[in-house]
Amino acid sequence: MGERFTLIGDVPTDTRAEFAADIEEGLRSAPRRIACRWLYDEKGSRIFEEICELKEYYPTRAETEILEVRSPRIVELVGSGVTCVELGSGNSIKTRLLIDAFLESTSELDYVSVDISPSAIRSGARDLLAAYEGLSVTGIAGEYRRGFEWMAANSEKKKLVLWLGSNIGNLDRPGGEAFLREIRRHMTRDDHLLMGVDLRKDKETLEAAYDDPGGVTARFNLNVLSRINAELGGDFDLDAFTHEVLYEVEAGRVVTNLVSLRDQRVRIAALEVEFEFTDGEHIHTEDSHKYSPGEIDELAARSGFERVEHWSDAGGRFSLELFSPGSTA
Ligand code: AVI
Repeated sequence: MGERFTLIGDVPTDTRAEFAADIEEGLRSAPRRIACRWLYDEKGSRIFEEICELKEYYPTRAETEILEVRSPRIVELVGSGVTCVELGSGNSIKTRLLIDAFLESTSELDYVSVDISPSAIRSGARDLLAAYEGLSVTGIAGEYRRGFEWMAANSEKKKLVLWLGSNIGNLDRPGGEAFLREIRRHMTRDDHLLMGVDLRKDKETLEAAYDDPGGVTARFNLNVLSRINAELGGDFDLDAFTHEVLYEVEAGRVVTNLVSLRDQRVRIAALEVEFEFTDGEHIHTEDSHKYSPGEIDELAARSGFERVEHWSDAGGRFSLELFSPGSTA
């Protein structure tokens, strides 16, 4: 990919030990839990892409719709000469809409992609570089923290940080606020943050989005048990657990669980442990928090950001937020 591509941190990290320790801790807890980050092994990431195409899973389409309409305005607001820093592997269709808009007004653009998977970065970069002559790509393979380190080391560059897909929803509300504060700490005055946030809406729409009738999201959730079987020598019977979704209206949170369909024992060889599950017992796997416009206002203020502009899709389901770190950054 030549001189227009640089990859930083291409050292395969051994996540297996961390996976084992986290699964053991989560399954020994009451109630039992598995952190949602473990849903994304290679197969899980592929199923997640299928989810994004589902009729019921509207967030990807709603965010794309906003970017289709608003990308020129975003470019106008953030100005020229920015480096785009994307946290998490965004859907490249969405990123392309922004890149298109930037390259309308400038011949060159630097794009920094921060992702846990070096192979995802490489293949994404290959496609983007083939499509855009004026683009340079820096890949940072690792946790978001590595992206923040890059931002601190490149503070002289004017940045547009992209945190799309309502990834904030998978953090609890204090965690979301703390993460925004952390992003802001690594920004300077002229930088901006572009963040996608899914909005509160009716229970029926939300539960269908996370429990589609075709069972794709159920497969995504159950896949974490296959991952434990494959990587930690577990003997989970996938037919003995079911996917369960509940929208808690007041909390504004879609809660996702795996539920044991009978009394059963599951052995995980790598942990040298056998876990007993009772009929109906839950393993919590994911929360997706939804925000009202007022809550986003408060979130921005509490994390020290100024809300520059925000846009919604025609159906009013999703919000794209442009934040500035304000004059004290
Ligand atoms: C990645 N994240 C924002 C998705 C969400 O909507 O919470 C993950 C997801 N889980 C099931 N469907 C989508």
